Parts: sequence; structure tokens; C-alpha cells
Amino acid sequence: PYPVYEKLRQSDPVVKVMLPNGQTGWLISTYEDAAAVLKDPRFIKDMTKFVGQEHPSVFSKNMLFSDPPDHKRLRGLVQKGFTPQRIESMRDHIQEIADRLLDAVSGKDRLNLIDDYAFPLPIIVISEILGVPTEDQDKFRVWSNSIIEASNQKMGEDVTRHMNEFIAYLKEWFAKVREQPGDDMISELVIAENQGDRLTEEELYGVVTLMIIAGHETTVNLIGNGVLALLEYPEQRKLLQDRPELIQGAVEEMLRYNGPVEFSTSRWASEDLEFRGQLFQRGDLVIVALDAANRDPAQFEDPDLFDITRGKSPHLAFGKGIHLCLGAPLARLEGEIAVNTLLRRFPDFALEGEIGDLEWRPGMIVRGVKEIPLRLS
Ligand code: HEM
Repeated sequence: PYPVYEKLRQSDPVVKVMLPNGQTGWLISTYEDAAAVLKDPRFIKDMTKFVGQEHPSVFSKNMLFSDPPDHKRLRGLVQKGFTPQRIESMRDHIQEIADRLLDAVSGKDRLNLIDDYAFPLPIIVISEILGVPTEDQDKFRVWSNSIIEASNQKMGEDVTRHMNEFIAYLKEWFAKVREQPGDDMISELVIAENQGDRLTEEELYGVVTLMIIAGHETTVNLIGNGVLALLEYPEQRKLLQDRPELIQGAVEEMLRYNGPVEFSTSRWASEDLEFRGQLFQRGDLVIVALDAANRDPAQFEDPDLFDITRGKSPHLAFGKGIHLCLGAPLARLEGEIAVNTLLRRFPDFALEGEIGDLEWRPGMIVRGVKEIPLRLS
């Protein structure tokens, strides 16, 4: 998409477009405008203010689709589970998971990077944080997929059935946790609810669903897209292999160069307003092209170059403003461990085939490839 973004930034930085799902909306593609929209309280998230009182699904009552003051309440309850200190305390455990996944292919000469490594790692981690029993993790994978499809407006029969199964599962789960809370985030939330700390049953569905989707659909592509960038730039890979302590900067550059979340989620103009000379009407949809902003030459020198030594990067891969990704410390840690462990354990890995032949996943928001087949020796 990057050549298209370059043209847009130059000729139509704020432009009305038809999205793949048939909706029309404003697309924002320069860094400066992207950051401005994400911070501007005139662009709001709760679409029920325009299209009727009901949320489109029980799952959308969550912080990502809420505005202040609701947003603060919904985010506040989970926030303490994601502080940098709390996440850092998970380092050894995440390392064990990465090693366990790679142990499973040691002795083999091939690794399917996505299916065998990049996908399971964040799912295991988020399932453990939430308290999903190991034996149910496969079901969650199917449900997560269906919820994504539903949000792409593809409500097939299977999707409806999966959503109903998912709600039934959650109901039973919360009931069990109310009787016997464990040492996990859902228990904490449910206990908070018992103590009068106000999460409705629907809001609980919303938060769990948001975590599951975030855990299933994003970090996988940080690891996948990041390894692709290393394959594309062998000298950067060599540098990181020689100096693993550069990993933090490398992950930031992976997020900037090939961000896993191509577009922000929807925002809506809360009033008639003017933005960069364009007239927005109340209720207009606004989408920020995060990956376009992250390649804006007005913000980043040589933006199309992957350089793990850039230093502190103000990229927008995790968004900005009040909806800045809550899971960012976790995603960063998972990315750092996953990439460095792969480089350390299989220093000679190589792509089978050509980068240009890899198939990208369909879908609007998340950007990543379906498969990355690697030869290990
Ligand atoms: C929000 C990106 C991983 C939880 C966001 C947003 C972005 C983003 C761009 C803001 C969307 C907007 O403003 O429209 C990413 C990327 C990830 C990642 C690139 C991986 C590399 C995770 C993980 C979790 C998570 C692992 C949790 C387990 C959330 C939550 C929000 C959010 C809860 C909503 C925050 C709010 O509305 O206040 N993420 N995310 N994310 N992310 Fe992530």
C-alpha cells in the first residue's frame, strides 16, 4: 500500500473515500494530521450517538468504542493489569513459552513462522492473563475469527452460531468465577464488580472480547512483519544477531516500518467542523491510516528504509491519545522475546520462496501475511 499512501499524502492528505465495506469516510494519511485527529476530542468513538441507542453487538460495549467519561471507567479497571512493571514481571514466563514453541520444531528443518510461533505465543499469554483454561484455547481461536468476520459485516450462519456459543461460554465462565475466583484478570474484574465497582455483564463481555481480539490479531503480525523486515534487510538482521541488545529499537522500527494495525478504528465527527480546509459534517466517519503516517517523510528521515538504530521513534503504530494501545507494553515484550529467541536458536533461518510471493491476509484493519515458511538450516 505504501506507494498509494505516498500519493495520497502529497495530493489528498484528507480525502473522502469509499471503504471496502461500502461505507464512505475521511481518510487521513499524513503524520501531523493523524496525530491531530487521534488527540482531538471532537472526533469521538461511540457511534450509538448517531445511529440509534443500541450498540451493534454486545461485544462493542468496551473502552475502544467509548468516549469520556465512560472510557475512563472501562479502561481504568483493566489498566492495572497492564502496567510496565506488571508486564515486565512476565518476562521469564514469556521466554519459557517462546522456548517451548521452538523446542517443538528443534530437529526439524522447517518452521511455519505464523502458525507454529507468531500466532500461538500471544494467544497463550493473553489466555493465561485472562484465565482461559488451556483446553478451551482452540475454541477461542475460532470465536475470535468469527467476531472479526462479524465486524467486517459478514454474518454467515457459522458466525452467528459461534457468537452464541461464545456468549454462552462467557456467561458460564463468569458464573463459575463469581463462585470461585482465581488469580487472573477476569476474576479481578468480576470481584471488582461484586464490590460495586460497576462493570455490567455486557461490559464484561466487551472487555473480554476486546482483549481476546487484541491478543489474537495484532502481536502475531508484529512478529511476522518484523521477521519479514529482517529478511528484506539482511544487514540489519546481521546487526541484530551480533547485538541482541538492540532489540528494543528494532521492535519500534518494526512497528513503524510495517505496522500490524494499518488503520485506526472508526472515529466520528461529533459536530460540523473544518479540518485542514475540508468540511466535515456531524456523524462523518474518520479513519486514520497509521501505516501511512508512519512513512511520512515530513516526520521520519528516509521513511521507506528499515533502520533498527533510528533511536526513539514517535510512530503511531499503537495509536495516540486516550485510546493509546493498552497492551503496548505486553506486545513490545512479546515481540522482543519472540524475535531475539528465533534469531538466537535458529541463526541461519531463511525464507522458502520469495518475499514478493507471500500472501497478505484480507481485511481492513490488521495487516500481516498468512504464512511465512522458513527453512531452519
Ligand atoms: C488499542 C495497536 C496489541 C489491547 C489499540 C490501538 C492501536 C493498537 C492502534 C488504538 C486504536 C484506535 O485508536 O483506533 C496494537 C498493536 C499491537 C497491539 C500494533 C501489537 C503489536 C495489543 C495487545 C492488547 C491490546 C496484546 C491486550 C492484550 C488494546 C486495547 C485497546 C487497544 C484494550 C483499546 C484502548 C482504549 O480504547 O483505551 N491497539 N495493539 N493491544 N489495544 Fe492494542
